[in-house]
Amino acid sequence: MLSETVWNSNLKELKIDYLYHLGLDNTEDLKGTFKDTRFVCMFGSALRAEMFAKKAGKQLGFTVEGPIGKTERFSLYKIGPVISVSHGMGMPSLLILLHEITKLLQYAEAIDVAYIRIGTCGGVGIEPGTVVITTEAVNEKLEAVFEHMELGKVRRYITKLDNKLAESILKSAGDIKAVLGKTMGTDDFYEGQGRLDGALQPRYKAEEKMEYLKKAAEIGVLNIEMEATAFATFCSRADITGAIVDAALLDRLKVDQIYVGKEELAGFSEKAQQVVLNYIKSKING
Ligand code: URA
Repeated sequence: MLSETVWNSNLKELKIDYLYHLGLDNTEDLKGTFKDTRFVCMFGSALRAEMFAKKAGKQLGFTVEGPIGKTERFSLYKIGPVISVSHGMGMPSLLILLHEITKLLQYAEAIDVAYIRIGTCGGVGIEPGTVVITTEAVNEKLEAVFEHMELGKVRRYITKLDNKLAESILKSAGDIKAVLGKTMGTDDFYEGQGRLDGALQPRYKAEEKMEYLKKAAEIGVLNIEMEATAFATFCSRADITGAIVDAALLDRLKVDQIYVGKEELAGFSEKAQQVVLNYIKSKING
């Protein structure tokens, strides 16, 4: 998985490495269960991780193992060479999952694993239901940078993603409407994304919100969610091939509230999942 230059040398000091939030540790037979992993598909919600696991099992013809480990924080399933796992909402939760799943795969001696986050987002100037495959992750300042607080100091990391993988996934979309574009990752759903419908009176006006969203659109941002920059930075630092595939639930140039029905919402999310499943099928069968 990881080269010696990025694998954390401090871990050598540990007798047992407890992957606390997954409820697993490196004394278990991780190699037996996970060595053949080639794709890790990640979802915000545990329910989506479970549904995807079942769908992948049916479409790829593998049995679904899991949930493996504990389920208080994350839910993890194994379907042949695919892991389906939830990461919770936002970058802090996602980063915990990324560290632990990567350690798990390193202990399992898995090789050439691609990480794919499959989620939902707010579109910027695109129709609800459109699937956006990220070319570049930008922060709230519209920079291709992830700012992380470490030892009380802000560190800035680049947010490079593998565009070859993004293009291959796009080719697997078939008749599902999918596009390539930049994704903004934010630390909040409401004021962090310039919404006017949070609980508190925002300190900005409707015109300022529109000006901000239009500026984002001008530099090529097609969607906004809450994980992109941390995901891209982690993959880039670890030298893991990564992609983000999100279904837009609304057009933020038109509305703030998500009012699509439960079924339509599930349908949007399924489109993003199906695009990725088509891609995985083509890699497994090809
Ligand atoms: N997820 C987000 O982060 N924002 C949206 O607008 C929709 C889904």
